[in-house]
Amino acid sequence: MTRIVISSDHADIELRKTIAAHVASKGFEVEDIGPMTSESTHYPKHGEEAARKVASGEADLGILVCGTGQGIMMAANKVKGIRCGVCSDTFSARMIRQHNNANMLSMGARVIGEGLALDIVDAFLEAEFERGRHGTRVDMITEIES
Ligand code: RB5
Repeated sequence: MTRIVISSDHADIELRKTIAAHVASKGFEVEDIGPMTSESTHYPKHGEEAARKVASGEADLGILVCGTGQGIMMAANKVKGIRCGVCSDTFSARMIRQHNNANMLSMGARVIGEGLALDIVDAFLEAEFERGRHGTRVDMITEIES
């Protein structure tokens, strides 16, 4: 079963919990690593924590939420092996899996509404990496890390 780790900062923990419940309802194994309160926190540590679980293989994919989706994505992408994109539309969510083999999705709770966020999550989780020439390019991204 595909294991999904989900995290956020304080910008919208309710959206994160809704996403976690939605993903679990689709049959995925979900680990929601918080935070559990809306107390102001720091997105880099939450992005890093989730990214380390994906990079280590503890989780297969990760989903992140912060105000814009940008800061937590930047933090996640600092972890070796992470390919995280911010999405505000379903086309991009599908393409970051199909072409970029993204292993994490980030969204901005102050940018999109709940309905779109759930559609984006579905598009991300349902898409598959196409490999071929896209594999060559993703390998080139990985080479930059070494
Ligand atoms: C927190 O106010 C906000 O800066 C954060 O959620 C995120 O948008 C950063 O990129």
